[in-house]
Amino acid sequence: MANRIIPVADLRPTPLVPDIPLPLEAPAGHLEDSLARPLHDLRISVTDRCNFRCVYCMPKEVFDKDYAFLPHSALLSFEEITRVAKIFVAHGVHKIRLTGGEPLLRKNIENLIEMLAALTAPDGKPIDLTLTTNGSILARKARALRQAGLRRVTVSLDALDDTVFQRMNDVDFPVSEVLRGIEAAHDAGLGPVKINMVVKAGMNDQEILPMARRFKGSPFILRFIEYMDVGASNGWKMDEVVPSAEVIRRIHAEMPLEEIEPNYTGETAERWRYTDDGSEIGVISSVTQAFCRDCTRARLSTEGKLYTCLFATGGHDLRALLRAGRSDEELATAIAHLWRKRADRYSELRTASTPGIDPAVRKVEMSYIGG
Ligand code: GTP
Ligand code: 5AD
Ligand code: SF4
Ligand code: SF4
Repeated sequence: MANRIIPVADLRPTPLVPDIPLPLEAPAGHLEDSLARPLHDLRISVTDRCNFRCVYCMPKEVFDKDYAFLPHSALLSFEEITRVAKIFVAHGVHKIRLTGGEPLLRKNIENLIEMLAALTAPDGKPIDLTLTTNGSILARKARALRQAGLRRVTVSLDALDDTVFQRMNDVDFPVSEVLRGIEAAHDAGLGPVKINMVVKAGMNDQEILPMARRFKGSPFILRFIEYMDVGASNGWKMDEVVPSAEVIRRIHAEMPLEEIEPNYTGETAERWRYTDDGSEIGVISSVTQAFCRDCTRARLSTEGKLYTCLFATGGHDLRALLRAGRSDEELATAIAHLWRKRADRYSELRTASTPGIDPAVRKVEMSYIGG
């Protein structure tokens, strides 16, 4: 027990309550940070809980029965989330992703989706409303989610072989249930469904080819994600990363691939397609090829802290402003000010310095801030 890591979501002694500089400003539909990156995406974590204990995200030894998850009173309510999201949309956000923990565990999540689906961007373009799930209760929920206004889903699936999958999720959850969830999402019109596989060397990399074979020619877009050093509890080591170039090499040797253009600037995935049937796969190379240069993502934690980088050590306490009765204009001004100051580019800096990452720097957990 001596070496046990006690994860703390935000180690700063006092929460960072954002300034509200004067004069107040109304959102103008576009904001850029200090590196000229626009604010385009908002990822909202709706719960810090999950029914899986993936080894790379919520290892069992840390997230055990004594782990202090957030109490209900700490969570932003649906009204609070929607109020913040509306301000972000007024600032130029066009894509909202609900994450967790496992977002489908949040009670009445359909109600939140309905509220968010009603938001409209100032330029009239629709908001891309999506959700990342482990798929465990998706088969049951897919239709209701679609009816509430969700547009699409991304499902995490790390293996097709039950033994390997269960070693990854660490709660004996079967592959077949997740596959059922994926089919149900497709049938409910939540497509194109993306399937995210985190590859951890020596754990599930033997599943790269079976996964590629299984989803080739299907309506599902499989994406391979490099295992990242996110959070403080997963004990990340560089030699557990399988570089995307290696993933592509292995698949290409059996099923030839060619690279295709990104859908938009700042897309996390590099896209490839099979030369014979044209079906698509992707690789997300956050470790070997950082994509900070075009990172347009803001993250709202379950308890209402704004993180301007997945690897930030601290968040800005928007909940404090909400609960202090601040006006929309005051909130919008605070957010604008935070985004303009933003200079984060953690992955790029890590790429430049690996293996010199300082392990003493405690980062927020992925389960708290959301993927
Ligand atoms: P789509 O529009 O569906 O393609 O969404 P997306 O590309 O944002 O993909 P998704 O939300 O599924 O993210 C996939 C994975 O990429 C996450 O689970 C993370 O592992 C990684 N990722 C996403 N955003 C970031 C980011 O801002 N920084 C880093 N370093 N990794 C990220
Ligand atoms: N590295 C890469 N991706 C991660 N995720 C969680 N932890 C990690 C990590 N250490 C992502 C996965 C998963 C989603 C919920 O979060 O993509 O599918
Ligand atoms: Fe849960 Fe997703 Fe983290 Fe796995 S990766 S523990 S499913 S939040
Ligand atoms: Fe964006 Fe930070 Fe990820 Fe870089 S490391 S892509 S800045 S969230």
